[in-house]
This record gives sequence, C-alpha cells and structure tokens, in this order.
Amino acid sequence: MAKNAVITGWGFYAPSRVMTNAELERIVDTSDEWITSRTGIRERRIASDGETTSSMSTRAARVALDRARLRPQDVQMIIVGTCSPDYVFPATACMVQNDLGATRAGAFDIEAACTSFVSALAVARGMVVSGAIQNAVVIGAETLSRFLNWKDRTTCVLFGDGAGAVVLEASNASVGIESVILHSDGSQAEKLMIPAGGARIPATQGTLDRGQHLITMQGGDVFKLAVKSMADAAEEALAEAGLGLDDIALMVPHQANIRIIEQVAKRLHFPMERVFVNIQRYGNTSAASIPIAISEAEATGRLRRGDKVLLVAFGGGFTWGASVLEWFGAHDGVRPPGPLERARGAIEDVVERVRPV
Ligand code: ACO
Repeated sequence: MAKNAVITGWGFYAPSRVMTNAELERIVDTSDEWITSRTGIRERRIASDGETTSSMSTRAARVALDRARLRPQDVQMIIVGTCSPDYVFPATACMVQNDLGATRAGAFDIEAACTSFVSALAVARGMVVSGAIQNAVVIGAETLSRFLNWKDRTTCVLFGDGAGAVVLEASNASVGIESVILHSDGSQAEKLMIPAGGARIPATQGTLDRGQHLITMQGGDVFKLAVKSMADAAEEALAEAGLGLDDIALMVPHQANIRIIEQVAKRLHFPMERVFVNIQRYGNTSAASIPIAISEAEATGRLRRGDKVLLVAFGGGFTWGASVLEWFGAHDGVRPPGPLERARGAIEDVVERVRPV
C-alpha cells in the first residue's frame, strides 16, 4: 500500500476573454472603485460561447498530465469538483474522460460549491492511499458566468470562469497530502444558492421569469462565517498534520474576496507575504480558484519542493475545509517527457539558436 498521495502534475486554463470592472460599470450600477475596494477584484475571465466546464477542465487536465508525464490512457480516476456542471447529469468528469481519451479511467463529480476542489482532493487522496487506485486527475472548474444574474450588482461583479487540475499519485515518499479536513452546515443553505432547476424546485417558465436559476447570495452573512470557518479549518488541518503555522511556506486560500483572505490571515496571525493572492485577475472562480492559484504559485517560483502548503476553502452549503500538503513537484525525469513538454523544449531550442550573440 502506498504511504502517501503526492501532487506530480498541475495546470490551469482561463478563458481568453477578460471582463474588466470598467466593462461592468456599463452593465450594472457599480464602479471600479467599489469593486476593487470591497473585493480586490480588477478583472475576471468569461468563457466564450463554445467553452464549458468540461472543455476548460480538459485543457487544464492536459497540462497537468503532461507535467506528470502521464498518458491519458494511464489515468485511473477523474474527479471534477464543480457547481456549474455541463449537465445535471451525466457528470462533467465523463465529458472530460472522453475528451482526454482516458479510456481506462473512472469518472465522477463532487459538488461542495467553492469547497469542491478540497473535497475532491480528500476523496482522491483516500482512494490513492488505500491502494484502490494509483493515480487520479483532480479538477476544480466553473462556468459561473452562465449562472449569474447580470442585473444583480451584488453578485455579478464577484465571479469568473476557469479550471485548474492536479495529478495525484501514489508514492512511497514520506511526504504528500498530510491532512484534509471537511465541514458543513446545511442549515444556512439558502444564504448562497441557485434555488431552482433541481428536484425541489423544478424548472418552469415561472422559475425562469423570476431568475431562480441564477446565483443568489446574502453576502454579509457569507463574509462573516467564511472568515471564522476558514481560520478554524486551517488550525484543525495543521493540528492533524502535526504542524504549526510557522511551518507553512505558503497559504493558498479560496479566492472569494481579498478582505476575507486578509481577515483569515489576521485571525491566524499569518503574514500576508506568505499568502497567495490572484483574485485581482480572476475574481471568485469557486472550485477552480485553489488549483489555478497552485499552478500560478508554482509558475512564479512561490512553491518549491519540500514547501509545506496550506489550502483553505469556504463555499455554499455551507461547506468549508482545509488541507496541509508538502509540495512534491515534478518527477525527476524518470518518465519520458509528454508532448507539451517536448514542444516547449523544441521552442526553447529554436529561441536559443536564433538569439543574437
Ligand atoms: N457596486 C456598488 N454598490 C454595491 C455593489 C456593487 N457591485 N454591490 C452592493 N453594493 C451596495 C449595496 O447595495 C449596499 O448599498 P446600500 O447601503 O445603499 O444598501 C452597499 O453597497 C453595501 O453593501 P454590503 O453588502 O454591505 O457591502 P459589503 O461591504 O458587505 O460587500 C460583498 C459586499 C463584497 C458581497 C461582501 O459581503 C462579500 O464579499 N461577501 C462574501 C461574498 C463571497 O465571497 N461569496 C462567495 C464565497 S462562497 C463562494 O465562493 C461560492
């Protein structure tokens, strides 16, 4: 049985269409100043007509698999965390399985709103460490722009689209996903939800006319609970891992609101210099925010092998959770490079050759 589950691949995809706060000023009664000062968001990405949660997931997964030097046919499990799936069913993960050509993989979705990625990580880790599977592609992806009420300034300015993925593999290394803790409180479900379109309030012309298929939120209540819950979860995950905040090189929180992130850090007495923040460019991408942030943190040199990392999330449900892991990083060239990596190498060779001396 494997001792640990480690992240060996990571990648993300963000739609090319950027929507700035200035653009939102022309849609609803808002201002760049209000959005920036209250949320930290300057722009977000919006999926184009042809893009879906599964298509963005597939693009992120390809990058992560390439980094892990795994072929799609080697993948044993695909788990997509999302609350904006392609369909009510089948699972978005099945679309990803087909698009990747992951012919031997199982596939299912996890829905815990913005906590979906951490929840999916918990499930995948359990499956890997138990020996049930050797690897899993764990994805967080959302197309929340399709579920926004573009007339409601209290919600439409907050969210964005995108996908992030990691490859989790069995390892005998002494490091890996050290702890994952999850919590929930369904008594406050109505404070952040899409009320209609499910079995309780099925879709009718009336529900459509009333905009009940779109996100509704009581932002102030969400804010207060998010701060306390995320801080508590962080401490719990650290205790389970037998670590303290001083051991943590980088905190990667769900990117919901810069003020929530700052208050969580303040409550924990954790310096903001060691907190990864990219909300200014993507807004709240819900389940996608942590895996996108992980990829960007690695790309900008803020994640190095051996670093202890704290993930912490909060979302509709309410759901919240945290995970402590040690960053494993890419394989040491044991496996042959994947096609994207080979293409990158070829481009670097050409650049090197044409560079003036
Ligand atoms: N532009 C201008 N004014 C606005 C806007 C806007 N986009 N939105 C709200 N306002 C107005 C309100 O109408 C209100 O006006 P009023 O005083 O005349 O009634 C005023 O601004 C203040 O509204 P508040 O709701 O008190 O503003 P607050 O400072 O609480 O900020 C916000 C609102 C940003 C939504 C905040 O509560 C928040 O971030 N909550 C958490 C939301 C969140 O992160 N949700 C996602 C987490 S879970 C998940 O990711 C799925």
